[in-house]
Amino acid sequence: MYTSRIAGMGKYVPENVVTNDDLSKLMDTNDAWIQERTGIKERRHIKKGDGNSTAVMGVKAAEIALDRAGISKDEIDLIIFATLSPDYYFPGCGVQVQDMMGIHTCPALDIRNQCSGFIYGISVADQFIKTGMYKNVLLIGSENHSGGLDFSTRGRGVTVIFGDGAGAAVLTRSEQEGHGVLSTHLHSEGKHALELSLKGPSTNHWVPQIIEENPQEDIPYYPYMNGQFVFKNAVVRFSEVIMEGLKTNGLDVNDIDMLVPHQANLRISQFIQKKFQLSDDKVYNNIQRYGNTTAASIPIALCEAWEEGKVKEGDTVVLAAFGSGFTWGSAVIKW
Ligand code: ACO
Repeated sequence: MYTSRIAGMGKYVPENVVTNDDLSKLMDTNDAWIQERTGIKERRHIKKGDGNSTAVMGVKAAEIALDRAGISKDEIDLIIFATLSPDYYFPGCGVQVQDMMGIHTCPALDIRNQCSGFIYGISVADQFIKTGMYKNVLLIGSENHSGGLDFSTRGRGVTVIFGDGAGAAVLTRSEQEGHGVLSTHLHSEGKHALELSLKGPSTNHWVPQIIEENPQEDIPYYPYMNGQFVFKNAVVRFSEVIMEGLKTNGLDVNDIDMLVPHQANLRISQFIQKKFQLSDDKVYNNIQRYGNTTAASIPIALCEAWEEGKVKEGDTVVLAAFGSGFTWGSAVIKW
């Protein structure tokens, strides 16, 4: 059977840096609170008129990934696009990318698994490559959060943590056993769907109905998050799914060369690091600079870790995510 390996990665973040102090001018928050609770110092936001969108940023990251992989756009067999903030309600960003990049009529698939979207995408790509159906899969995670956040004090518990950006990977067929994606594990628990959600606008919650049914202080066309509940579930599920991945491969925490957790909150990453007693050089965090970029967070972090020489040939790399759905998952990769 074939295996799949990551042949190239790319990332793109908008130039516009938004600091905690910038947000303090818009809402009742402050740098000390944000840094203490989340670790975030700044994030990037699309600026009106800069030409960026979820799909556009995805293309920018994808072009770098393809170039580094040495694979032409004509060789792509499948596009997978993970996002919770698509440019359109329909169609998805996958087909937009296909058009913008001039890619032939290969299939394009959008994944709606929020912070776990990139891990779900790796798993889908891996299944298609393993069976021999496809050789090269372009996987993108991209988010334009800033376009849909509440920048008044009412939204401060959610708005301060999110940032915009995109990451991409080219997964390609390998015949080298024991290399590449060793395993993926995916989970979800729909009973907690509304604990971290955006109810509308949607077919169930169109804008006139939303306005009619809701007082001004509770507007469901901004994201809602039960922060502490999400946090408590995240630390448990992160740990479980990392161990599940390691055990499947006969590994333990000492075999991890680099853990790249979804960048939800620095406190979550630090909790996992402490629990598994991993040294600082074995956990990659960049939430301080980008905030939580949801489906883009793992590919941006993994790309940077690779660019900085912190992920090397032969390393055991573990990716793990938890987020809205709830959904969570892990991928164990021999680089
Ligand atoms: N600035 C100042 N004060 C604030 C802010 C802010 N930005 N936000 C909230 N507060 C206040 C609250 O009003 C509250 O005040 P009160 O005690 O007077 O009522 C106090 O700070 C504490 O609020 P909490 O919500 O309890 O703060 P918490 O320590 O839980 O931190 C946070 C909030 C950072 C959101 C945290 O709960 C968290 O990170 N949760 C998990 C996030 C996560 O993992 N998400 C999953 C991925 S995202 C996805 O899938 C889309």
